[in-house]
Amino acid sequence: MRHFLTLNDFSKDEILNIINLAREIKKEAKQKEYKPYLKEQTLAMIFEKSSTRTRVSFEVGMHQLGGKALFLSSNDLQIGRGEPIKDTARVISRMVDMAMLRVNRHETLEEFAKFSLVPVINGLSDKFHPVQLMADYLTMLEFASGDKIAYVGDGNNMAHSWLMLVSKLGLELRIATPKGYEVDEQILKQALKNAEISGAKIHITNDIKEAVSNVDVVTTDTWVSMGQEAEKERRLKEFDGYCVDEKLMQIASKNALFLHCLPAYRGYEVSEAVFEAHADEIFAEAENRLHAQKGVMVWLDKNKGNQ
Ligand code: CP
Ligand code: NVA
Repeated sequence: MRHFLTLNDFSKDEILNIINLAREIKKEAKQKEYKPYLKEQTLAMIFEKSSTRTRVSFEVGMHQLGGKALFLSSNDLQIGRGEPIKDTARVISRMVDMAMLRVNRHETLEEFAKFSLVPVINGLSDKFHPVQLMADYLTMLEFASGDKIAYVGDGNNMAHSWLMLVSKLGLELRIATPKGYEVDEQILKQALKNAEISGAKIHITNDIKEAVSNVDVVTTDTWVSMGQEAEKERRLKEFDGYCVDEKLMQIASKNALFLHCLPAYRGYEVSEAVFEAHADEIFAEAENRLHAQKGVMVWLDKNKGNQ
């Protein structure tokens, strides 16, 4: 049985297969043809953190696939009162067909997956947000962008997820973070190892211009991730100068895309003008969460018998 915890667990072919499946299901959905790929199946969705897109897209996605999604806040579950995650996994996975978790610590997901009888999907952890990257890549294909990507900002779960996507698919990624906010060293090491096989190009810098020059896609994320609220003041100061504004976009390729996983904080990681000028692709990206995740869920269901 396969889980979807990080793209590092997937081959290039598998990632592209999921994307193709998502495109096919999206095409059908656009014609209002909702095939019951997951008829009468149930997805448990456990949230330790807030969400707009992840919650709605998984819930609607499951409904359109002929199944049902259960929204479970960790505060309301017995986890909140100390029931071990491994017991929670053993109970819930006997009753549902798939589980999606949004967690503070990636290790919680790994523990849940270890004890789960059904496929587990990462709906965001402190380390990775892989379902977001499936939507982002689907959007890049739809807008026919090139393969050179710049990520500007915090070396966080989104930066790590870009490293995994790019290193698996053989694309090019430049990451510019302020000093002290670089990506995790182990994750970078893994990405560089993947890049040796895929031919991906990865460049890490503190210089935003060096990162963005002539790229086809510019992307960023909040400077203050969920759980980092106490560091907000310090972070806003230390990220000064890392805003994606019109001046920065001008040194990217002509017609470069701007992607943002959302929620966006205008005036911080992105200017209002850049955000609004690129609203078409940003909201297509958000919509693609729905389609990409259907691809992920249907693929996991099809591969339930495989190691
Ligand atoms: N991008 C994303 O995961 O959004 P939510 O936090 O609203 O789910
Ligand atoms: N890096 C952000 C992504 C939100 C979708 C966070 O973890 O809060």
